[in-house]
Amino acid sequence: MRQVSHDSRIRFTNLVNFVNPVFVPAPNIDTIVSLAKRRGFVFPSSEVYGGLGSAWDYGPLGVELSNNIKQSWWRWLVYDRDDIEGIDSSIILNRLVWKYSGHEATFNDWLVDCRNCNDRSRADKIVDNKCPKCGASDFTEARPFNTMLQTRLGAVADDDPAAVAYLRPETAQGIFINFLNVQTTMRRKLPFGIAQVGKSFRNEVTPGNFILRTREFEQMEMEYFVSPTAEHSKLVDYWVEQYLEWFASLGLSRENLYLYEVPGEELAHYSKRTVDIMYRYFPEREKPWEELMGIAWRTDFDLSTHSKNKLDEEGKRINTDSTEDLSYFDEPTKQRFYPHVIEPAAGVNRTVLAVLMDAYSEKTNDKGETRVILKLSPQLAPIKAAILPLAKNKPEIVGMAKAIKRSLQPVLRAVYDDTGGIGKLYARQDEIGTPFCVTVDHQSLEDEAVTVRDRDTWEQERVKVADLAEHLQKRLKPYPIAVSEPQ
Ligand code: GAP
Repeated sequence: MRQVSHDSRIRFTNLVNFVNPVFVPAPNIDTIVSLAKRRGFVFPSSEVYGGLGSAWDYGPLGVELSNNIKQSWWRWLVYDRDDIEGIDSSIILNRLVWKYSGHEATFNDWLVDCRNCNDRSRADKIVDNKCPKCGASDFTEARPFNTMLQTRLGAVADDDPAAVAYLRPETAQGIFINFLNVQTTMRRKLPFGIAQVGKSFRNEVTPGNFILRTREFEQMEMEYFVSPTAEHSKLVDYWVEQYLEWFASLGLSRENLYLYEVPGEELAHYSKRTVDIMYRYFPEREKPWEELMGIAWRTDFDLSTHSKNKLDEEGKRINTDSTEDLSYFDEPTKQRFYPHVIEPAAGVNRTVLAVLMDAYSEKTNDKGETRVILKLSPQLAPIKAAILPLAKNKPEIVGMAKAIKRSLQPVLRAVYDDTGGIGKLYARQDEIGTPFCVTVDHQSLEDEAVTVRDRDTWEQERVKVADLAEHLQKRLKPYPIAVSEPQ
């Protein structure tokens, strides 16, 4: 006998109460902290020992989201373009790298202590000359605090200065010291870039705001090497535009991004121009913006400072320890020079947070019931398709659903879930951003077809199992980014 179709029942249980939904975006970071913990994106680190201020662990869904962001970045820069190579350098480098890069001398935060309550703050974060803790205006003189995290290498005495090493505060230096290795082995001519993604560490004085400012974080940095006579400022603009495109491909709304031309007095010691791309991390505040990434013209500072032949204005070698010269011979002009660098430097964690905030939406129905829908771009969604059996006590349906999950796995990340009623399962997948739910019902056993439900529209369509992988892949196609050459 023919089984009754449950198709129409599924459709109506999910749409009837949400006919005219009101969408609300993430009102603040705390909303994301709560979702992230509840649904397995990000957990406070070392929680069983009371936590460790500013450290966070990525859970089963968070690790997928952050990997998808890093993969999108790598594909876009290293694979889709023809002018960028990738590397993965060490986190701990020779200490001399940090001496000559200027970090030992200048990678400082300026600290002040409140004489009233002894609270310690960054001088540049004091607003209206008032202590953020007690409101008093009586501070000590500002003093520098180097924010590189130190460690010691080998079995040495605690106070042996020769054993001091640093955990890198930026991935960039690992690129500069490998400039010649990459250029010669890959037979590159200018302009070309080197990309690297990995952990960096800073002993931040005031970490906070979830994964926005932590002492251990991940960066995606690219150093783009060009001639000293190139139009550097135009190239900064070019990379700003390229990154705006990439952020759009990740689903970030343009109105949540803001370009900040860093004024001269705020520029890092190596930079002649920097544009920060800011994100609206604090929609509830009068000043909602915080840096998502920066694009800097680093001049020839880094390659020349690490080179043995570079002389200062008095004709003295600026680096008496280097054994290499990181200059470049330009065949067409027969000239040797230190290339200039345009550096787009982005944070993985800040991108994860921006993506979660932009994707967050709440649907509320007439009765005031609220559902969270995470409208992640399909390429970033931790799970692309959830395969749900309509009846978990029917072995044939369960078997068919599990077989579909296994068959999809080689082409896209799919999960099987039977831990609740269909309404609950849909709600859970909406909340973690799964673009498609695939329901196997009684009719599926007969017609070899399943119901595919769209996360954003909640529309459903019947698709043959044989066509399912192709159908989903077509709808999961990433946003196309136009790759253009710098002019
Ligand atoms: N190589 C240049 C450089 O490191 P930066 O502006 O200091 O520049 C680049 O860092 C990006 O790294 C920032 O825009 C931010 O996204 C991320 N970042 C920096 N410090 C961070 C921290 N303490 N926690 C999380 N992300 C951080």
